[in-house]
This record gives sequence, structure tokens and C-alpha cells, in this order.
Amino acid sequence: MPKKKKAESRDNVVPINGKKNTVESLTKEVESLKAQQKEFCEMAVRSILHALDCKDHYTYGHSMRVTYYSLVLGKEIGLDDEELYDLEMASLFHDIGKIGVPDEVLCKPARLTEEEFIVMKSHPEKSAEILEGFKPFEKAGKYARHHHERYDGRGYPDGMKGEEIPLFSRIILIADTFDAMTSTRPYRKGLPYEVAFEELHEFSGSQFDPYLVEKFCEAMAREKKKNESTFTLSIIEGEFAKDAA
Ligand SMILES: [Fe+2]
Repeated sequence: MPKKKKAESRDNVVPINGKKNTVESLTKEVESLKAQQKEFCEMAVRSILHALDCKDHYTYGHSMRVTYYSLVLGKEIGLDDEELYDLEMASLFHDIGKIGVPDEVLCKPARLTEEEFIVMKSHPEKSAEILEGFKPFEKAGKYARHHHERYDGRGYPDGMKGEEIPLFSRIILIADTFDAMTSTRPYRKGLPYEVAFEELHEFSGSQFDPYLVEKFCEAMAREKKKNESTFTLSIIEGEFAKDAA
């Protein structure tokens, strides 16, 4: 039988790049490479979102607010830090596919025609296409693809039902709808929180996950009491106004 190779001692590992490496120094190096990779990813997120801001400033602001609302709900249901980070990334990017929607459809201040609505409805798939090509954004791409699925299976693009729909996509749908209802646009005033809560409850179980609606309304009612006009996010620098106007 061939003799077993003697195990390397913990503090005398094979030299790499001419340096004598210990387990501790290699661990440190791996950690610093991971931190560097995270930083590069976050720079890429900011650049891509800058492109969205150039395309449509409202959708950019909407994405920031949706991220804030998603994180409020994520914290309320006890997600851990890693999960909250993934949720933040997915929420920031959920509407990135709108870059591919023509301005006359995306910014139309009136009701969309049937054909225009079909074009608009392609944005979750476009978000997924944009994000899936880059490994660190792959998960966000999956969650973005499903953020218009409905709990009763009548959503799009895949008609997923109930808990088949990824949890983060169910969270983003509530945050997304809440912002669409409460934000003020040039052609209409945003609804007060209380009215938006009632709307969410009305479609709880059909459009939305009922457990998440409950948790969201509780958490947002508490957020409102804090009476803060801005919020901050961890990936995107700066303070953002809660009010879209
Ligand atoms: Fe959307």
C-alpha cells in the first residue's frame, strides 16, 4: 500500500506566490477577496440603477421605495442579514427590465391600450434576462421575474400559485403595489397609508399572500408613527425621500 502523505502543519502551508502562507493568512486573504467582490458587485448595482435613473427617474425612485418597504416586511418576518441583503438586491432590481420598455409606453400618463399593456407586462422577464447573465445577480433575476405572480395563480409571467412563488417575489409584489398606490404622480395624488392598507386587505389571498399582508400593514403602521421623511439603504448610498412627489 502506498504510504500516506504527511499532513501539512497548520502554520507551515505550501508557499503561494513566493509567500509562506498559514491557514490564518489564507483565510484572511479569502475574506478580503470576498469583500472586494461584494464591493465590485455593489458598484455594478449602482451603475445599472444609474442607467435606470437616466431612463425614467420615477421608476428609479419607485425602486428605492419598494426596497425600503420590502426590507420593512423582511425584518418583520425575521429574515437574517444575508436574506435581507438578497432581498435588498432583488427589490432594487425588480423593475430593471423597464429599461427595455419604450418611453411612450413606460411614461404614458393615461391608460395603456391592450397592445401597450402586453409590452409593459414583459418587464419582469426582461429584468430576469438582464440579471441572469451575471452570476452574483442570478438570484435577484429569479425574484424579479416573479414579482407580478399572484397568490391565486392569475399573475404573470408563469402563473405560479401560492407558496410556489418565491417568498421574496411575494414580498416585492406587496411593496410594489403599496408604493404604486401611495406615491403621488403628476396626474393623481397618492392614497393615504390607511386606504392602501384596506386595498391590500381586500386583495389578500387573491393577489397577495395573506400572512405577508398582515405583517406588512402592522410593520408599516409602526413605521408611519416614527414620522421620518427619509430612509437609507445599505447598497445604494444617500438618503431617499419617502414621498415620491
Ligand atoms: Fe413591476
